[in-house]
Amino acid sequence: MANERKKIAILGGDGIGPSVTSEAKQLLEIYRDKAGFPLDLWELDLGADRYLRDGTTFPKEIQAAVQKECAAVLLGALGDPRVPGLEHARDILFGMRFGYDLYANVRPVKALHDRLVPLKGRTAKDVDMVVFRENTEGIYVGMGGQFKRGTPDEVAINEDLNTRKGVERIIRAAFEYAKANGKTRVCMADKSNAMRHAHELWYRVFDEVKKEYAGAGIEGRHLYVDALCLLMVQDPSQFQVLVMNNLFGDIVTDLGAAFQGGLGMAASANIHASDPSRVAMFEPVHGSAPPLAGRDIANPFAALLTVGMMLKHLGFPNEEQRIERVVAEAIEEKACTVDVGGALGTRAAAAWVRERVAKEL
Ligand code: NAD
Ligand code: IPM
Ligand code: MN
Repeated sequence: MANERKKIAILGGDGIGPSVTSEAKQLLEIYRDKAGFPLDLWELDLGADRYLRDGTTFPKEIQAAVQKECAAVLLGALGDPRVPGLEHARDILFGMRFGYDLYANVRPVKALHDRLVPLKGRTAKDVDMVVFRENTEGIYVGMGGQFKRGTPDEVAINEDLNTRKGVERIIRAAFEYAKANGKTRVCMADKSNAMRHAHELWYRVFDEVKKEYAGAGIEGRHLYVDALCLLMVQDPSQFQVLVMNNLFGDIVTDLGAAFQGGLGMAASANIHASDPSRVAMFEPVHGSAPPLAGRDIANPFAALLTVGMMLKHLGFPNEEQRIERVVAEAIEEKACTVDVGGALGTRAAAAWVRERVAKEL
């Protein structure tokens, strides 16, 4: 599999997206040119600029071509104050997550250096978990509407859609990940005490699926998501694999990013977990951070770590660990941006990591 050519679509997007993605792209070029990895890179001109120029968001032909031809997509971030309705961002981001049925949003919450952990008395070894966020359902499906908009009687509704199939496959993906990676604890967080219909389904399916994995020595634990947040702060070391719905996964992984040194350190993968041969999408957890855009100060490490997740997924198993280790060395040597205690700009911090990686290849 690792010998076949792999086409990667690259979409920088908005704000800091293009700068961190350009650094990540240069890392991929090193793997291609120096290590001979069979990668073909295809840059897509999509995002707020394009939308404002000609109204294009995510054309059907591009959506289909990426699905057919590409092994992966590397995405920066989408969201621009000039497009307050975020219509391009939703079309592109959800066009991939929903359109390619990338039901598992895998977000490692792993601290790479003690200095980055803001929790009192905790060190990097206490922060090492992976969140499996359901990525195709929940409150994100956009079902609902507004009625009598702009009047004193207005009504606004967003439906929380949960299917048996959708809930079961993300829970299974979390357990399968645990099994494949020697983890012994999977925790599912919901709000079934308040959301009696939708989250009772999560509770029931988790209870069923966890029994199948008890024999493999994996313990399934249920928590309400509010309690999860409390316990994550009090003692993150108790968590290994977490699974939850789309909205909770979004929120909990920003909380988790704080344990890692901020959003500039958090990577993610969007995959169709039961069939890794399908196109997958990789993106840092952070957004477009408009106030940082164009200033060479955004942390590029989340984007570089995202390349590691992508390479692992594409059949180059050692590179995720390598990139992680080199990023940890950069943090140790303060060869990093200000948000993580260094004094380098985006470009210099990324170049430092690339040079070290290149030397090893
Ligand atoms: P954000 O992630 O852009 O920023 C949140 C905070 O983290 C800010 O303080 C920002 O300065 C900091 N931050 C983020 N990335 C950083 C980096 N690489 N280095 C250093 N600091 C970093 O979230 P937001 O401000 O809520 O959203 C801004 C826009 O991004 C919005 O339009 C939002 O919808 C969009 N967004 C897009 C994605 C995505 O495309 N996947 C993800 C999140 C937010
Ligand atoms: C993320 C972002 C997106 C989400 C936004 C931009 C819709 O916050 O990828 O974490 O909520 O999924
Ligand atoms: Mn988010």
